[in-house]
Amino acid sequence: MAPTHIEHIGIAVRNLDEAITLYESAYGLKCYRVEEVKDQKAKTAFFRVGATKIELLESTDPEGPIAKFIEKRGEGIHHIAFAVADLPPALQQAKSTGIRLIDEEPRQGAEGLRIAFLHPKSTHGVLTELCDHAKG
Ligand code: CO
Repeated sequence: MAPTHIEHIGIAVRNLDEAITLYESAYGLKCYRVEEVKDQKAKTAFFRVGATKIELLESTDPEGPIAKFIEKRGEGIHHIAFAVADLPPALQQAKSTGIRLIDEEPRQGAEGLRIAFLHPKSTHGVLTELCDHAKG
């Protein structure tokens, strides 16, 4: 299941508009998409940096996972997402090595990706997302 590349890095922010402005003015990147992901109770903004994207996440719900993350740890890197060729077998392989899955089955993420999260307690503290381009 070796990942082909880092698909994106997810960054939790309190204010999406302010963060977008910073990424555009400080780095000269262009936000090409803003999307609400109901499943994650978050609004997301995307920037391309080579083959990798930056995914800014602002919570749309004070009880949502992004709000809780910021409450506990402040703004910052929330997750890293690896692109894999085929998500279901990659998930099973991770599971078979003892990694705890947050998502037993792929679910729908932003940008039409199938995604699944691995528990940070079993990945040295990094919330890890696996994703592929097949439509779930
Ligand atoms: Co993500």
